[in-house]
Amino acid sequence: MKAANATTGSTGGPARILVVGSGGREHALAWRLAREAGVERVLAAPGSDAIGAEPRVTCFPAVAATDVAALTGLARREGVGLVVIGPEGPLAAGLADALVVAGIPTFGPSAAAARIETSKAFCREVAAEAGVRTARGRAFEAPGPALALARELVAAPRSPGVVIKADGLAGGKGVTVCDDLPAAERALAAVFAAGGERPGPRVVVEERLVGREASLIALADGQTALALPAARDHKRLLDADRGPNTGGMGAYSPLPDLPESLAAALVETVHRPILAALARRGSPFRGALYAGLILTDRGPVLLECNARFGDPEAQVLLPRLALPLAPLLLAAARGGLAGAAAGLGLHGPLLPTTDDAAVAVVLAAAGYPEAPRPGDRIDGLGAGAARRALVFHAGTGRDPDGTYRTRGGRVLAVVGLGHDLAAARRRAERAAGAITFAGLQRRHDIAADLPPEVTRAPAGAGGLAAGSGR
Ligand SMILES: Nc1ncnc2c1ncn2[C@@H]1O[C@H](COP(=O)(O)OP(=O)(O)O)[C@@H](O)[C@H]1O
Ligand SMILES: [Mg+2]
Repeated sequence: MKAANATTGSTGGPARILVVGSGGREHALAWRLAREAGVERVLAAPGSDAIGAEPRVTCFPAVAATDVAALTGLARREGVGLVVIGPEGPLAAGLADALVVAGIPTFGPSAAAARIETSKAFCREVAAEAGVRTARGRAFEAPGPALALARELVAAPRSPGVVIKADGLAGGKGVTVCDDLPAAERALAAVFAAGGERPGPRVVVEERLVGREASLIALADGQTALALPAARDHKRLLDADRGPNTGGMGAYSPLPDLPESLAAALVETVHRPILAALARRGSPFRGALYAGLILTDRGPVLLECNARFGDPEAQVLLPRLALPLAPLLLAAARGGLAGAAAGLGLHGPLLPTTDDAAVAVVLAAAGYPEAPRPGDRIDGLGAGAARRALVFHAGTGRDPDGTYRTRGGRVLAVVGLGHDLAAARRRAERAAGAITFAGLQRRHDIAADLPPEVTRAPAGAGGLAAGSGR
C-alpha cells in the first residue's frame, strides 16, 4: 500500500498504468483503461504508433516487452500504480516476478504460475491434481512410449484420431491434430527433432475430442476468480476452418452454446480448483487465467490453459465489460478480488456485461502466416472507425505523414458491436469492408459458424465433471 497517494486514482483504481506489449490485445487494454474514470495516464511499452495515438496514452517504443530490467525501471520512475502484462513471453521471462519484488502491483502471473501455459505437461499435472477433466493422455520424455500411446488411442473404437502437443511455448504451432497413426508418427518425429537436450517432458499425447471450442477467461488473484464472458476464436486462416493455423482470425462473444449458467459452473469446476492447486504448490496465480475448452457431447473438457488474455478474444471481451476494469485488475494484483466483488455487490463468479454482442474480424497481411509482408499502405481506417465499430491495431506502423502501413502478420482487428451477434457481425463486416491494403487476408464467416438450432445448452451444463475421461 506504500505510495498510495501517488499511484492510486480518486476511484480507488490506479492513476498510472503500464501496459506491456504492442499488439491488438494491448491496444484494446490501453484503449479501455485510458477511458476509465480515475485513470490519468496509460503507459505502453513498447506500445505502437496506434496505441500512442489514443488519448491519455504514452508509448515507450525503446523498451522491449521482455526487457525485465528496463520495464521495472520504467514502472518505478514513472510512478506506475499497476502493470498489466499482455503477452506470454514477458511472463515466461519472469517480468511479474521482478515487478513484485520491486513492490509494483502487477496483473500477470509469476513465471512459475505461468507454467500452466508454458508447459502443457504441467497444465495436465495441475488439472489432474485439481480434479479437472482433460482429454485422456499423458506427457512423455521419449518418443517410443509416446508413439505407443498414440497407437493405442488411434486404435480405440470410433477414434477420430490423436493429438500431439509439443511441451513448451510454440506460438500456436506446437499442436498437431492427427487423423491417423502415420500423421502422429510424423508429428512426434518433428517434436523430438526440434530443440536440443533438455530434461523433463517433451510432448503430450492426447485423445482427439470432437466438439465446438470455447474460451473462458477469469481475472484471478491467487484464489478468487471472476470470469469475463465466454468467447470463441477462429484459428484457421480461411473460411470454414480451412487453411493453416494462425494466431487467430476473429472472435466473438457471447456464445449461444455456452450460457451463463454453464460459465458459472465452469469457474467453480475449472478455474477455482486450478487456482487452489497452484496456490498449494506455492505459485499463486494472479492474472488472466484462460481456460481453453472443448464442448463435447459428454460435457466440457479442458484442452489447455493460458496465462493471459487471448488475442483477439480481448478485443471482443473488453468492450463488453460493464464495470471499470482498472480497479478489478488492481484488486487481482493485490489479492483482493473477493473484497472488490463484495464491494461491487457481485453475486457469483461472473463479471457483469453490457447488452452488446461483439464480433472481431482480423485483417491479416499478405503472406501471413508464413511470411507476412510489411509496408503495404492501409486505406479506409477513418471509414472503418464507424458507429458501433472499433479498430484495434495489431501490426501497423505510421509514416510521418500519418499514413498507416502493415507491420506484422495480423494487422488490425475490427470489432462490431450490436444488440445480438448478427447485428454485431454486420457492423464488423461493414467496418472491415471499408479498410483496404494490398494482399489483405480475412475471413468472412466469423461468428457464422453456429447452426441456428444451437441456442440451447450443450450436454453437461452442470459444469465440468471431474475425474471422468482419464
Ligand atoms: N485433445 C484435443 N482434441 C481435439 N482437438 C484438440 C485437442 N487438443 C488441442 N486441440 C486443437 O488444437 C488447438 C490448439 O491446441 P491448444 O492445446 O489450445 O494449444 P495452443 O493454443 O498452445 O496451440 C485447439 O484449439 C484445438 O483446436
Ligand atoms: Mg489454444
